[in-house]
Amino acid sequence: MSAAASPGGSAASAPSLVEAEGLRVHFHPRSGLLRRSTVRAVDGISLVVGRREVVAVVGESGSGKTTLGRALLRLAPISGGAVRFDGADLLALDRPALKAYRRRAQVVFQDPYASNSPFMTVGEQLREPLAVHGIGAVSGREEIVLRALEQVRLTPAADFVDAYPHTLSGGQRQRICIARALVLEPEFIVADEPVSMIDASSRAEILSLLRELQARQGVSFLYITHDIASARHFSDRTTVMYLGTAVEVGPSAGVIEEPLHPYTKGLIAAVPEPDPRNRRRMRSVIPGEPPNAAAVPAGCPFHTRCSQVIRGRCDRERPKLQDVRPAHSVACHLYDGSV
Ligand SMILES: Nc1ncnc2c1ncn2[C@@H]1O[C@H](COP(=O)(O)OP(=O)(O)OP(=O)(O)O)[C@@H](O)[C@H]1O
Ligand code: SF4
Ligand SMILES: [Mg+2]
Repeated sequence: MSAAASPGGSAASAPSLVEAEGLRVHFHPRSGLLRRSTVRAVDGISLVVGRREVVAVVGESGSGKTTLGRALLRLAPISGGAVRFDGADLLALDRPALKAYRRRAQVVFQDPYASNSPFMTVGEQLREPLAVHGIGAVSGREEIVLRALEQVRLTPAADFVDAYPHTLSGGQRQRICIARALVLEPEFIVADEPVSMIDASSRAEILSLLRELQARQGVSFLYITHDIASARHFSDRTTVMYLGTAVEVGPSAGVIEEPLHPYTKGLIAAVPEPDPRNRRRMRSVIPGEPPNAAAVPAGCPFHTRCSQVIRGRCDRERPKLQDVRPAHSVACHLYDGSV
């Protein structure tokens, strides 16, 4: 797939590093005695992450963001479609090739408290991936660890090496998780809600640290978030997900400042007002709950909640993702030229 092949999916200038095409992850949990339902967690996503690029994936809880990120790392069972990394078919990797991929692609999870082992010092946690991947001589690993701690601004680094996680704040613990990903010098990092569980004062610092690392070391990021406002500052392009599908894709400035899809508009209208004088102003919310991914509505998946629904059309025909502005695409019948 060329970077230009998917609507709105092309990185403006960067050659592509990660490419997903029609990616599907369906789960089949047992729902009754014999019946198995199909949960369409990711249902036909095409996405490109360019080299040195940050792509945000935003959407409500249950829209499939984490499953998409895990599928790109081959940590979720892929039901269909294709994923390539640096041109190689990820589904065709044998065990040694998958291990090599695991060095090149890393993840930073939401919960730094669950991600740090309480029984290992910071130094032990950072040396572990180096040992697993056989990086550096044992004697040289201390230097790699100290450098990674400096990169995430835990300084003086020597003071943190022998610390246990319980002595650190949530923000410091998340920096350890980032350092643990960085020691392997990855090319791609999936950051899944990396700041949602840490205190508000550390959030902006950690996001700007990630942005700086991305610029300095040229790492590509998939930045998963509920917070569409943070995607504006931290990402180059944004994919808005709803029930396992991409409903809007484009440059983050365009998607967030001039959204097209009614769902994206609803997410933006729900962002809290930063000006304390306006804090009491009523915030708009998207009506209703997202439907269950095991019972995706026919037609446009958003039609059960959309204030602009076209009866007889939106409830029958699924809109295709198509370019409406340069490199900015939307899946909505309001834009397909027939309305
Ligand atoms: N292992 C699994 N088995 C069955 N269903 C699953 C599994 N993992 C995820 N799901 C379902 O897939 C859908 C997408 O889940 P996912 O965790 O990817 O959403 P999300 O957008 O990351 O949500 P959140 O913002 O709450 O983290 C949900 O309906 C979820 O219940
Ligand atoms: S296709 Fe119809 S229901 Fe779906 S978002 Fe557009 S107007 Fe709303
Ligand atoms: Mg998630």
